[in-house]
Amino acid sequence: TINQVSKICYVGAGYVGGTSAAVMALANPGIQVIVVDTSRAKTDRWNSKHVPINEAGLDLVIRITRDGLSEHDSAQPQRAANLVFSTDCSRHVREADIIFLTVSTSTKDYGEGAGAAIDIGDLKIAVETIAVAAKPGAIIVEKSTVPCKTAQMIQDILQYHRPGVPFEVLSNPEFLAEGTAVMDLLRPSRVLIGSGKTASGLAAAEKLASLYHWISPEKILRANHWSAELAKLASNAILAQRLSSINTIGAMCEAIGADITEVSRAVGMDPRIGPSYLQSGLGFGGSCLRKDTLGLAYLAEVDRFVERVIQSFHGTLRGKKLVVFGYAFKENISDSRESQSIQVIRQLLLEQPEEITVYDPGCDLDFMQDELLRTLSPMNSPVKTYQNPYEACEGASAVLILTPWEAFKARSSPWCQPVNWGSLLKHMKQPRWVFDTRRQVQAEELEKLGCKVVTLGRSS
Ligand code: UGA
Repeated sequence: TINQVSKICYVGAGYVGGTSAAVMALANPGIQVIVVDTSRAKTDRWNSKHVPINEAGLDLVIRITRDGLSEHDSAQPQRAANLVFSTDCSRHVREADIIFLTVSTSTKDYGEGAGAAIDIGDLKIAVETIAVAAKPGAIIVEKSTVPCKTAQMIQDILQYHRPGVPFEVLSNPEFLAEGTAVMDLLRPSRVLIGSGKTASGLAAAEKLASLYHWISPEKILRANHWSAELAKLASNAILAQRLSSINTIGAMCEAIGADITEVSRAVGMDPRIGPSYLQSGLGFGGSCLRKDTLGLAYLAEVDRFVERVIQSFHGTLRGKKLVVFGYAFKENISDSRESQSIQVIRQLLLEQPEEITVYDPGCDLDFMQDELLRTLSPMNSPVKTYQNPYEACEGASAVLILTPWEAFKARSSPWCQPVNWGSLLKHMKQPRWVFDTRRQVQAEELEKLGCKVVTLGRSS
C-alpha cells in the first residue's frame, strides 16, 4: 500500500546511528536500512570486517543484516542483506520514507553558550541536506540528543527550502547506554515518540511505531514533541544527579569510616530508590551525561582521587611509575570521549611522575597512544600504552583501577583474560599500591600479598 515503509535512512554513522540502524534492520528484514555519513572513513569502517565500535552482539547483528549471513553458519546465506553504509547522502535521503537524524551533538566550544550549550551545527547541516533532497511526505525523526524546541527549528528549515511541501517531524530520543547498546535496543525500557497532534502528525507517529513491532505496545509512549525532547534531557540529568549524590556519600564514607558498598546496598533496597546506578566512582564520564548536565561534580571526584594518590606517596610522585587500568570512560567499550582517565592522567602528570603506563582490554593500542599524544603533547608526556597488563606494571609503584572490568576482579569475561594479581604484584616495585575506584579487588587478599590498597568510598 501507499503507506508502507520500504526504505529508511539514518543520517550520521556514529554510535547511535550505526547500532540503532543495525538492530532496526535485524527486526525489519523487509525494509532497506541505509546509514549515510559525509565521512568516507566512517562508512568504510562500518563496511569493514571489524566494525568501529565494541558492543556485545553487534558483530553478529551486522553480519546478518549487512552481509545477509546466517546466525549459525557464517558460510550459509540465510536472508537478504538489508543494511547499507554509504556516503551517497542525497540519493538515500531522497528515496527514504523515514529519515532518522543521528548526527552527533557535543558541547559547544565556541561563541554564545560555549562550554555549556549543546552544539547543533552538524545537525543543521544534515537538516539542510534533507530539506533539499527528501521526497514529499517523508518523515524526519530526531534521534540525536538535542536542545528543546529543535523539532521546530527542523520544521522551519524544511519549510524554508520547500514551502508548502508536507513533511512530518517526530522526536524519538535514544536511551541506549554504551556497552549494552544492542540489548538496550532489542529490549528497551521504553520507546518514546513525540509528534504533532494533527491527523498527519499522529499518523506519522503510528508509522514510526510500526517499525518497533517487537516491543510490547505498553512500552511505546506517545507524547508531544517538546515532552519527548525534554524527557531525554531530564533522564540524563536525573541519572547524573544520582551519581553525584552517591559520589558525595562516597566521600563521606571515606571521612567517617563507612563503606560505600554497604551504604549503596542498604539505600538501594528501598523500592522507591532501587539498586541500579548507585555505584560510586569517579563521577560520570562519557559523552552524554556530562554534556547534558555539564559540570556537575565531575572534576571534583577526579581531583579528590588524584589528591589521595599523591598523599599516599607523601606529597610527591617524582621518580614513581604509575599504571592506569581503564582508559575508555567505562568497562567493555572502547569509547574514550570525555573519559575520566585522561583527566586523571593529565592531573597526575602535573606531579612529574617518572612514567605513566595505560592498559585497557577494550582499547586499541595505537588509538590510545595517538590520542594521548594529541591531548597531552604540550606536557611532553612520559605516557606509554600496553596490551599486556604485566608488562605495563613492570617496575611500577601503583596501579590505579579506574573502570570496573571483570578482568580486574580476576574474573574472565568474553573480552579478555582475568588479571592474576599475584603475578602482577611480582612485576611491581615496593612499596606497592593499588588504588581501586570501583571496588574491584579484594583488598584484604592483596594486602596479604604485600600491597597497600586504597578503596574509594572506604576510609582505609
Ligand atoms: C548514558 C545513559 O545511561 C543512557 O540512558 C543515555 O541514553 C546515554 O547516556 C545518552 O544520552 O546517550 P552512557 O553515557 O553510555 O549512557 O553510559 P552510562 O552507563 O550511563 O555510564 C556513564 C558514566 O557513569 C560512566 O563513567 C560510568 O562508569 C558511570 N557510572 C554508572 C558510575 O560511576 N556508577 C554507576 O552506578 C553507573
